[in-house]
Amino acid sequence: MCEALGTVRPYEQERRVVLSVLPHYADGAMSGPNMPARLLLGPGPSMVHPRVLAALGQPLVGHLDPEFLALLDRVQEDLKRLFKTQNQLTLPISGTGSAGMEACFANLIEDGDEVVIGVNGVFGTRMADVATRLGAQVVKVMADWGDIIHPEAVSEALASCRNPSLVAVVHAETSTGAWQPLEDIGELARSHDALFMVDMVTSLGGCPVEVDAWGIDACYSGTQKCLSCPPGLSPISLSERAAEKIRARESKPRSWYLDLSLIGSYFGGERVYHHTAPISMIYALAEALALVHEEGLEKRFARHERHHLALIAGLSVLGIEPAAAAGYRLWMLNSVSVPDGVDEAGIRRRLLLDHGIEIGAGLGPLAGDVWRIGLMGESSRPENIRRLLLALACELGGDGVAAVREADAQLSRAGS
Ligand SMILES: Cc1ncc(COP(=O)(O)O)c(C=O)c1O
Repeated sequence: MCEALGTVRPYEQERRVVLSVLPHYADGAMSGPNMPARLLLGPGPSMVHPRVLAALGQPLVGHLDPEFLALLDRVQEDLKRLFKTQNQLTLPISGTGSAGMEACFANLIEDGDEVVIGVNGVFGTRMADVATRLGAQVVKVMADWGDIIHPEAVSEALASCRNPSLVAVVHAETSTGAWQPLEDIGELARSHDALFMVDMVTSLGGCPVEVDAWGIDACYSGTQKCLSCPPGLSPISLSERAAEKIRARESKPRSWYLDLSLIGSYFGGERVYHHTAPISMIYALAEALALVHEEGLEKRFARHERHHLALIAGLSVLGIEPAAAAGYRLWMLNSVSVPDGVDEAGIRRRLLLDHGIEIGAGLGPLAGDVWRIGLMGESSRPENIRRLLLALACELGGDGVAAVREADAQLSRAGS
């Protein structure tokens, strides 16, 4: 442990906030795991607002209770405002972001369909794997990890297909920190009469998304990133074009659990039982969405941008530079190069155990070379940036005060 921070339990404040909203944990009246309150600055999960934690502890009601159904309606409306869509088929899938990915593919592709998928990191690779397992003929558009998928390459891939049915890319590649532009690729998909699918697991709630304006037919996200809710639900949205494709299927989707025709009858008004909704997680998502809309989308996105710039400014004083391609760097997930000669895993471990701060490791070809620092939702706060910069300086031996001053100067230039 660094001498300068030796007497501080850095996560004590968060623990006190949690105990103040869940007092039964404080007096020992309830037993349960006694988890440390970490500062979560990794690729997800992110910090959760005390109001969301408190929502999880609300009394359970049945999944057909009128109060619960009214809450579900509200969640769907709040999701539409967030995705910027009028799509009727906008709802939270039970399961994490990968369940949303699998739901979209399972419902939109049939055996032998030609599907073009951008692969420039872990999650494009996963999309290709999932689509292949579901019977698609996948045409991969490859790019270097850290780079984006270029529209010209998508155009070539589409031209090589006989009858492409779907084009899919990842908006925010969490494994590399690359921010994928969408509009040109969406137009290409439409010009081939193919559906356009986008992974928004990391982008939703942290940067603009415009489902209707960008012609997106299917997208899915996760609750544990910029929505600052625990993991467990995957908000999805499907256009009328996508819904029509599902209605016109020749075969049933390969997954019963993720069959949107069946799930849609619970959400769509008839309230037909399909599976028991994860009630407490819906409470949490409802509260997380309320917080998003109370803040306002534009203000929330501007906060993510401001804090990304402040972090990058502070890190550069410590000799740590961004790894993703210039001009395409995500605000909510900062992939940065580990300085030469530094014990990547050792520093990460000390940040966690001595400073109570989680950051992420590199994945795949980037393992050992990058750290992934998330400033998502509730985690995207100036005090968290300062705490991380000081802890890193402590462990790396740099000038932490100068790094914090640089980050603060950037924040004041941005007017906060
Ligand atoms: C871009 C992206 N897509 C998909 C996923 C999978 O989501 P989950 O881990 O919630 O299943 C993740 C998770 O980190 C992600 O970052």
